Amino acid sequence: MLIRISCVFVVCLASYLTNARQFPNDFMFGAGTAAYQIEGGWNEDGRGPCIWDIFVEQRNLSDAKVACDSYHKWQEDVENAKNLGLDTYRFSISWSRILPNGTLNIINQKGIDYYLNLIKALKVAGIEPIITLYHWDLPQYLHLQGGFLNPQLVDYFEDFARLCYQQFGQYVQYWLTINELFQVCYVGYAAGSSAPGLYLEGDGVYQCSYVLLLMHARAYRVYDEEFRNKYNGQVGIVINSEWREPASDSTEDLEAQEQALQFSIGWWANPIFLGNWPQIMIDRIANRSKLEGFTRSRLPEFTEEEINYINGTHDFFAFNTYGTQIVSYQEEDPISYPSYIFDRGVNTSDDILHYALGIRREINFINDRYKPKAILITENGVSQDDQSLEDTERIDFLNSFLNNILDAILLDNVNVISYNVWSLMDNYEWGNYDSNMGIIQVDFSSPNRTRTWKKSASWYQNLATTKTLDPIKSF
Ligand SMILES: *[C@@H]1O[C@H](CO)[C@@H](O)[C@H](O)[C@H]1NC(C)=O
Ligand SMILES: *[C@@H]1O[C@H](CO)[C@@H](O)[C@H](O)[C@H]1NC(C)=O
Ligand SMILES: *[C@@H]1O[C@H](CO)[C@@H](O)[C@H](O)[C@H]1NC(C)=O
Ligand SMILES: *[C@@H]1O[C@H](CO)[C@@H](O)[C@H](O)[C@H]1NC(C)=O
Ligand SMILES: *[C@@H]1O[C@H](CO)[C@@H](O)[C@H](O)[C@H]1NC(C)=O
Ligand SMILES: *[C@@H]1O[C@H](CO)[C@@H](O)[C@H](O)[C@H]1NC(C)=O
Repeated sequence: MLIRISCVFVVCLASYLTNARQFPNDFMFGAGTAAYQIEGGWNEDGRGPCIWDIFVEQRNLSDAKVACDSYHKWQEDVENAKNLGLDTYRFSISWSRILPNGTLNIINQKGIDYYLNLIKALKVAGIEPIITLYHWDLPQYLHLQGGFLNPQLVDYFEDFARLCYQQFGQYVQYWLTINELFQVCYVGYAAGSSAPGLYLEGDGVYQCSYVLLLMHARAYRVYDEEFRNKYNGQVGIVINSEWREPASDSTEDLEAQEQALQFSIGWWANPIFLGNWPQIMIDRIANRSKLEGFTRSRLPEFTEEEINYINGTHDFFAFNTYGTQIVSYQEEDPISYPSYIFDRGVNTSDDILHYALGIRREINFINDRYKPKAILITENGVSQDDQSLEDTERIDFLNSFLNNILDAILLDNVNVISYNVWSLMDNYEWGNYDSNMGIIQVDFSSPNRTRTWKKSASWYQNLATTKTLDPIKSF
């Protein structure tokens, strides 16, 4: 009797969990890549150089001249995406492949054809393309003119965006203007470990963010005014941040958490969703700038017109996240050189305990604060030391992340509509091939760049086709 009852209980529990672990029918599962990380074909058919081509040479890093060779193997990639049962495939357009110098005076038809073929093949396979316009590969010619420090880039980006909407717009429902603003401006212009490799830690980094937000707004408004009626697609930007968990619930640590979130998510999301930079950034950077001897804040001030131009340029909130950090209060750093890190003024460290849980909190934070119409998770995944096909750890991680995302959907009623695992395949991780973040292995030692499904690919295929998740959370 007892055994029978517990069996019934187990069955009930299992079926309850099974039901509870079902994603909505229209939820979109996808996988992501970026042009520079997979295409190769670096000097073929008229492609112009981008800042990464130059940077890897300067720093003597592994190059991406062939990478996954997707410039030639795109049909196999589409085939894999189809066999995985993906609803979406997120990829980016190489600006210098279609505009070798970044500007409209030279249009490279072969580059346009490459993306047209890819997009059409995806549509035939029943896969919705999610296209990133800018994923870090600025045409070198535009960098020579100041890159993200030069507001003229806003005009050039407008031209590039319009060309893409004209050429591809009829097939595309989801456009992402710029990927990971923090990486573009902080890592590229302050930390110097990404192209173009500058160390403008307390000024260039903010000028970059100012130009970048205007670029995004311009590209959004061009779509809104010239293409939305025709194609009815949606446009947004991709913000990246780890979740910031307070070290304790003391007032100081909670304030530190808020400060950290404003300096990561708010930096970009406030101008777009609320209007203007976060007040705490305005105040802290103005204060420190003054004490450092500057006559004005190192954070550029938006005009009233610019605030209104940027505000509201979103159809959804797209974000990338890979984990959680603990944040705690720290004493004000003494005045020395200008620096984003001093401006931010909090102590952060990686957090294994809340690794996957953070994603649910981040979704809720974004939803409560910015009230987007929908949320797209455009990147999430894990790296792996080797290229092993038995990547059970990745499955555990993804399963944990996705269970937390599903909690946000089912328990917190947040409108998360899409998840794109990073990445469709192992690829070039900006200077090396060590991250192995793909659910499909790529053999970089073979001229064929042979693709082989890892265990996680079969797992993801099952998820994408059944929309059902194993309820175990490991992390
Ligand atoms: C560049 O890297 C290669 C391989 O790691 C090494 O053999 C070579 O000495 C490096 N060259 C310079 C100039 O650092
Ligand atoms: C394109 O850029 C290269 C430098 O990358 C420059 O030498 C060339 O003159 C540019 N061409 C045009 C037409 O602007
Ligand atoms: C930004 O737009 C929102 C929504 O339209 C509006 O409520 C808010 O007042 C605007 N912000 C500013 C600073 O104008
Ligand atoms: C800015 O400085 C003023 C005066 O020194 C101080 O009262 C205020 O708290 C500071 N604000 C921030 C956000 O640091
Ligand atoms: C930052 O936090 C870490 C871990 O919580 C701690 O060990 C360290 O002492 C803190 N550093 C500062 C400057 O507060
Ligand atoms: C590369 O692919 C071709 C055609 O599929 C095959 O004949 C060849 O054996 C492969 N070479 C390697 C090194 O895998």
